Amino acid sequence: MIKKNIKNDFPIFLNYVKKYPGKELLYLDNSATTLKPQVVIDAITKYYNSYSANVHRGDYKIAYKTDLLFKAARITIAEFINADFEELFFTSGATASVNQIVNMLEEQFHEGDEIITTYSEHSSLVAPLIALSNRRNLKMRYLKLDDNFRVNLKTVQAATNEKTKLIAIAQMTNTIGDIRPIKEICDFARKNKIMTLIDGTQSAPHMKVDVKDLMVDFFVFSAHKMLGPTGIGATYYNQKLFPKLKISNLGGGAVYQIKGDLITFKDSPYCFEAGTPNIAGIIGFATAVKYLTEIGMSSIWEHDQELKRYTIEQLTKLKKVKIYNPDNLSGIILFNVEKVFPQDVASQLSNEGICIRSGDHCAKTLPLIIKEKAYLRLSTYVYNTKSDIDKVVKAIANGGDFLDGFFTV
Ligand SMILES: Cc1ncc(COP(=O)(O)O)c(C=O)c1O
Repeated sequence: MIKKNIKNDFPIFLNYVKKYPGKELLYLDNSATTLKPQVVIDAITKYYNSYSANVHRGDYKIAYKTDLLFKAARITIAEFINADFEELFFTSGATASVNQIVNMLEEQFHEGDEIITTYSEHSSLVAPLIALSNRRNLKMRYLKLDDNFRVNLKTVQAATNEKTKLIAIAQMTNTIGDIRPIKEICDFARKNKIMTLIDGTQSAPHMKVDVKDLMVDFFVFSAHKMLGPTGIGATYYNQKLFPKLKISNLGGGAVYQIKGDLITFKDSPYCFEAGTPNIAGIIGFATAVKYLTEIGMSSIWEHDQELKRYTIEQLTKLKKVKIYNPDNLSGIILFNVEKVFPQDVASQLSNEGICIRSGDHCAKTLPLIIKEKAYLRLSTYVYNTKSDIDKVVKAIANGGDFLDGFFTV
């Protein structure tokens, strides 16, 4: 259940009012990153204040304590997506996860092999794949989307042939906010010996994810999109694929032995985590996961749905607002104000303490399917309320001198 006074858990709300007296922070850019509750900040501070040692190295008390915290954090995060301990390794975020997967799989790809993706993916997913495809002479195949810019199993099946090696798509996109039928797609892929790489950066914070039930091969996500710290993320991989993975990041922590020219590696997941990990980040990540679990992922989903319906209802009353994804199931709303440059709208709203995003949202190929160069994006999370939405809609409707000129409510 989402408690009424949840904003009190997030110190930034009070700090904002102190810094800008008379202004309230209306944060609706949660697809970009999320705010941090005090428990997450405290967990990170406690690690630095009380333990601060490295992991898997020291034989003294604070190192032992750090090892325990680190292990417990991995168990918490793995359980959150129903992964086994060995199947989850840490990275600096979803972008790093995708790059690492691509590097590890590189030798599995041969000239003429095909990768299926879409034009509505984040650059962090699609750019490493394009680079791989250029290096190995592969073909990138972009799925035909339906009228609501959605992916369905039939289009995936139609795009597949005997050369298809990988399907790489998000579970929930960060622009259109559509949710893909991942289970059906992965089931089909597995039956056809095609690997799947699912970008869960937007979905994991908002809905229950079970990687085993979804049958994904790779699943990536980032802590900062789910109330955790920046610079830390995780990769799930299906252990059956271990023999296909070439360990690409080499260094201390991953290596078991070096004898002459021969390097042997530690077991999974440590072989994928060369170098000192972001220990504080991982502890903060696990604390965020516990906080979300306490609320309950189904309550978070319900909350998103309720706010989405309400926002669409209110925004559609504004005649000059064009919404691109009114029917998609997520808390992400992509829109524009007719004849006003989106950056101008976002800057204007910022005067009211409102944070919404404008631009291309790192989805550089999206203009190929929605014929706009930039968009406004409003994205909600656990601390947002209908009252936040009312204030944003009112601010757009009465949007200062330049917005006024365009509005008839
Ligand atoms: C769908 C999607 N994939 C990948 C990323 C990249 O995540 P990170 O910047 O945490 O590596 C983002 C971030 O906006 C995203 O929304």
